[in-house]
Amino acid sequence: GKGQHRHFMLKEIFEQPEVIGGTLNTMLNPAERTITLPSLPFDLGVVNRVRIIACGTSFYAGSVAKYWIEKLARLPVEVDIASEFRYREPPMEPGGLAIFISQSGETADTLAALRYCRAHGQHTLALVNVPESTISREAEATLLTLAGPEIGVASTKAFTTQLVVLACLAVGMARSRGAISGETEAEICQALAEVPARVAEFLRRDDEIRLMAQGISEARDVLYLGRGASFPIALEGALKLKEISYIHAEGYAAGELKHGPIALIDDSVPVIVICPTDELYEKTASNVQEVVARGGRVVFFSDQEGVDRLASPPFAAMALPAVNPFVAPILYAIPVQLLAYHVAIAKGTDVDQPRNLAKSVTVE
Ligand code: F6R
Repeated sequence: GKGQHRHFMLKEIFEQPEVIGGTLNTMLNPAERTITLPSLPFDLGVVNRVRIIACGTSFYAGSVAKYWIEKLARLPVEVDIASEFRYREPPMEPGGLAIFISQSGETADTLAALRYCRAHGQHTLALVNVPESTISREAEATLLTLAGPEIGVASTKAFTTQLVVLACLAVGMARSRGAISGETEAEICQALAEVPARVAEFLRRDDEIRLMAQGISEARDVLYLGRGASFPIALEGALKLKEISYIHAEGYAAGELKHGPIALIDDSVPVIVICPTDELYEKTASNVQEVVARGGRVVFFSDQEGVDRLASPPFAAMALPAVNPFVAPILYAIPVQLLAYHVAIAKGTDVDQPRNLAKSVTVE
């Protein structure tokens, strides 16, 4: 049941500290601060190319993983939407690794992409939340998210647990290629180990997001901006909002602003900015200036340092707990989930059963 929560979605959002912790425990050794991946039927150390294929929110988890794997393991990663990949008939060198991310493990397009990759000599790795699912059965190996059943149609805890597994996989790949120092691995492990507590800390501030949502529920369009690994979080935020509140929302790479979307900015368009203090902070902060200068209503998610450093005051700002930038995408997924939830509540839409959507898309 929903327990004390009004909707499954809210219950699942609040379960995240626990399921993130449980998923981490399958790979993280907190005392040694190392990652141990389950044994795989192929050698990650010799893989020279990675493809990640998924749909929807799972595709955004894969998009974050591209930043992580390229940065830590120095391996080229291509991320594809399954429905595009499968009909493109992409040429593939044998020996690559193809990763399929799917909460349900039953998404038709993702399954078709898996079959295509197998037939073209790729090692296949499933990342699913349902161990006995078709995608898990047909892949050579499976990694599991321990999110527990996800009932709300909008994916929340499946997404953050996918991110956790992908972060561990990036570390494991980096180590098997000799691309990461013990010190960096220890720092990342420490940061990962702290994620459940940081998420729990942030969830206690749900009321602040609820108040922010009041100002957004009247909007017709909402923009989400982020750079680097925060870009897919912007995309995920926009998807969550449109799915459950039916407000038109778009995620953009912050650097693309001047290439088109800035034309949309006026005082009726909220602009949600995902901006932890990482090496790209200044770049995104300058995009915020551009939006504020045009009267845009910026809602700024950063940490205290990032909020303090911002030159022109945004319409609203929220300081999240400070974390190692590597794990920021996991933490910053939470405010965009809660924002979508509270906007939907303010609009009175059916949060758990949004119109026209199915939990599992088993036909294309
Ligand atoms: C969004 C959402 C969908 C799914 C997509 C893939 O909230 O739930 O976009 O992420 O249909 O589903 P799975 O992960 O089951 O393959």
